Amino acid sequence: MSGQSTYIPKSDLARWFESRLPLIGLIHSSFIVFPNPRNLNYWWTFGGILAFMLMAQIVTGVVLVMHYTPETTMAFDSVEHIMRDVNYGWLLRYAHANGASMFFIAVYIHMFRGFYYGSYKAPREVLWLLGVVIYLLMMATGFMGYVLPWGQMSFWGATVITSLFSAIPVVGNSITTWLWGGYSVDNATLNRFFSLHYLLPFMILGVVILHIWALHVAGPGNPVGVEKKSPKDTLAFHPYFTVKDGFALVCFLIFYAWFVFYIPNFLGDADNYIEANPLQTPVHIVPEWYYLPFYAILRSIPSKLGGVIAMFGAIMLFAFLPWLDRSPVRSGNYRPIFKIFFWIFVAVTLALGYIGSQPPEGNMVLYGQLLTAYYFIFFLVILPLIGLFETPLPLPASIAESVLSPVKPATTPAAATSSAEH
Ligand code: HEM
Repeated sequence: MSGQSTYIPKSDLARWFESRLPLIGLIHSSFIVFPNPRNLNYWWTFGGILAFMLMAQIVTGVVLVMHYTPETTMAFDSVEHIMRDVNYGWLLRYAHANGASMFFIAVYIHMFRGFYYGSYKAPREVLWLLGVVIYLLMMATGFMGYVLPWGQMSFWGATVITSLFSAIPVVGNSITTWLWGGYSVDNATLNRFFSLHYLLPFMILGVVILHIWALHVAGPGNPVGVEKKSPKDTLAFHPYFTVKDGFALVCFLIFYAWFVFYIPNFLGDADNYIEANPLQTPVHIVPEWYYLPFYAILRSIPSKLGGVIAMFGAIMLFAFLPWLDRSPVRSGNYRPIFKIFFWIFVAVTLALGYIGSQPPEGNMVLYGQLLTAYYFIFFLVILPLIGLFETPLPLPASIAESVLSPVKPATTPAAATSSAEH
């Protein structure tokens, strides 16, 4: 599916190399002449942005490590040393910390793009599942990274989240002790989190390679959701999509730079500038913003074990999307009912995020419970039912037709039927 390689090595050295390892031919067929659907919109540029952000996190992280010390008595000071004494250390640290947030902004847009356009449907289920694995690894990496500066929120965040495992019946306490490497979050915990925080991005890189491989087997989806049929439906990856992806990346980097240079602590927590103190609990323990909807779900269930199951369940539901959504039509553009519930779901997720950031008091508890209920009902009841009963709008005959002679999609199935009759 990567297209025939039309690469012809020009020099003797290149011919010698290519006949032993056809690497340049692979890159050429995958990223130069690769036939991409011609109608891809800007929502399809976030995969490339994510690839860039992964590399940026690895590069800034590897350099930060050169000055960081993963030991409880020195970790906090070593981060201050990076900020004050190391040349451009402040830039490296702010780029890495805000880079994590940018990575999550991009991944949420990428995932919700996939959700809206039904990108997880056959034949792209494995591509989607690999994405879910990447997302889980990202969550673990972000969580462990936040512990490393050994501030108050690092310590107490790690304590709250690792203690959740103690809710598991019978073996819970043993698991928590095993995770900590002792009887509380301490030096052994910091050390293993450091080790894993360094390792996991390379595992993410490995899964990303599989993800892109799967993408090239099925071929990318597109906003109308009909498969490509003829060469008229596609354009070469280069220059059309290298330029489009490059432009989107530059815009995204401006947004990222705005955070790094103007509001570097906006997404962080002031308490993390206080060194970890196991004897003093902060008034209000909050995780990083990208975990907040799931944190709200955790707190909405009155039992600890129930909360843990609901939180992990809420994340894992994404893995089952290809089987929960049975509609034969992929793109939300042609699914009038799905579209409405999809946007309600987006709003509910954002509202859950807000509730996760607030102290669990008064009405917040009730709102959190109602929104959590909607979250699960949407996935388990509404989505499967819409797939069965919704009448989709008529699809264009081909990608080329949707671009070159677009028939404006009718807004309701009734309007579509009546316009088809005239
Ligand atoms: C480090 C993280 C990730 C990287 C580098 C990455 C990379 C990419 C790239 C380059 C593409 C093709 C361009 C595009 O569609 O934007 C893509 C497509 C896709 N990704 Fe990801 N991805 C990541 C995470 C995820 C996650 C977390 C999910 C879902 C849970 C996901 C699901 C998909 C799907 C379904 C497609 C195919 C979309 C289509 O062609 O219609 N990806 N990814």
